[in-house]
Amino acid sequence: MGRPTVVVTREVFDDVLALLREHAEVIDNPTDEPLAPAALAERASAADALVCALTDRIDDALLAAAPRLRAVANIAVGHNNIDLAACTARGVLATNTPGVLDETTADFAWALLLGVARRLTEAERYLREGRWTGWQLKQLAGADVHGATLGIVGMGRIGQAIARRASGFRMNVLYCNRTRLPEPVEQSLAARWVDQATLLETADFVLLMVPYSPATHHLIGADELARMKPSAFLVNTARGGVVDDAALIAALAARRIAGAALDVFEGEPAFDRRFLDLDNVVLSPHIASSSVATRRAMAMLAARNALAALRGETPPNLLNPAALQGR
Ligand code: DGY
Repeated sequence: MGRPTVVVTREVFDDVLALLREHAEVIDNPTDEPLAPAALAERASAADALVCALTDRIDDALLAAAPRLRAVANIAVGHNNIDLAACTARGVLATNTPGVLDETTADFAWALLLGVARRLTEAERYLREGRWTGWQLKQLAGADVHGATLGIVGMGRIGQAIARRASGFRMNVLYCNRTRLPEPVEQSLAARWVDQATLLETADFVLLMVPYSPATHHLIGADELARMKPSAFLVNTARGGVVDDAALIAALAARRIAGAALDVFEGEPAFDRRFLDLDNVVLSPHIASSSVATRRAMAMLAARNALAALRGETPPNLLNPAALQGR
């Protein structure tokens, strides 16, 4: 049997390509243009494995166009771009990159939280636009973070990394999650499990860290925003679609909540341009995991997952073990 072919759908780091090239023929994407479905299907038709990104829709039509495909290795922990059932039905192993991005993503969630509380991007715009004429007592006065109540919706690995950082700010930490954490973990995080309504009504900062699925689609909409305190802030480092962006824009415009900080958007990279007219929102383009070291580690882990699958091994981060049946 000849060397397998790995298609890498987006630009990655040279050492990641070098590792793949030790074991496979590699078709890469140095221009980093996101591939339209037809172009992706065309490339995938020759592939034994795909190293792909959340910008690639891996659905049954794509799989049908890729008869040799044995593995789809997503460079992301989130995998809502992959139809896992379709992969399983076709015996294609799907993997993600859990663990390697937790701390970096938690760091950035804090950057957003602090940024919106202390009006950092608004202040920078003010200064850059030449509007600063001198010190004023109430100038760009924001909200205190220390001593406030942080409510984390989704207490997986990243949620817990965010909670650990809260002790430095002497915050009161609430969380809600499908399943309650074991008591020793709760104690080590000094976090209290509450229902979602209590969290929304109590928290000064509501931070979303849940995966996107039909169950979390518009988890935060008009009703949930109405439950939040008018002084509270919403931070979304999870996925677009977890928040109803139109409802959020209405709440921000009417000052029904104090502000929001968003790294993800419904329909990204397109997003509702009305966000741009609001001063009480901090916006970033889905970069929470984007430190050089972490993005490299994610791509490297995806490559290792793909190579393990091609060797006939069970990849370390297999999402659909049922696909192993009948291999
Ligand atoms: C993830 O890993 O799911 C991140 O959103 C990618 O940036």
